[in-house]
Amino acid sequence: MKKMAFAGVIILALIQFVQPVRNESGQVMDTDIAKTISVPEGVQSILLKSCYDCHSNNTNYPWYTRIQPGGWFMAYHVSNGKEKLNFNEFGLYPKRRQESKLDAIAKQIENEEMPLPSYLLLQRDAILSPSEKAVMISWANSSMDSLSANN
Ligand code: HEC
Repeated sequence: MKKMAFAGVIILALIQFVQPVRNESGQVMDTDIAKTISVPEGVQSILLKSCYDCHSNNTNYPWYTRIQPGGWFMAYHVSNGKEKLNFNEFGLYPKRRQESKLDAIAKQIENEEMPLPSYLLLQRDAILSPSEKAVMISWANSSMDSLSANN
């Protein structure tokens, strides 16, 4: 038993040296969603606090990601999340893709699939209040409608 605990401590210590590459470009891109479609201030602040950590080129790393395997989980979410939807690159998407992403945003928020529940366990300030959810859903739906009206 003691040996196991000792081995555990050693392993935890060793994995601290394996730091994932950080997702930090430090740039505001012209292809950001806020420069592509209309994003009111209230929506933008929600996106930044609750979504950009995994869906942009700049993650605001919470303290627990400095400790492994916390950082690994975060890196995994970021690479998966960005691949599906990158708000910094929204302007590069074809119109159809923009529409379907907006549709997915409304649905994911409605079904409480986003922000990722496992992330919300530690990142309490990213939790959306009922009114924030309503703001996001109505913004995503109306943006989708105006995009398709322009097609
Ligand atoms: C902790 C990381 C994380 C946060 C924070 C997060 N997401 Fe995600 N998101 C992911 C991951 C990972 C996936 C891909 C998961 C999957 O396919 O099941 C994803 C998928 C999505 C998708 C599906 C895209 C598609 O086309 O399939 C949408 C839409 C989405 N997220 C919107 C949001 C919104 C809006 C927020 C903020 C309210 C948010 N996410 C916050 C990690 C995150």
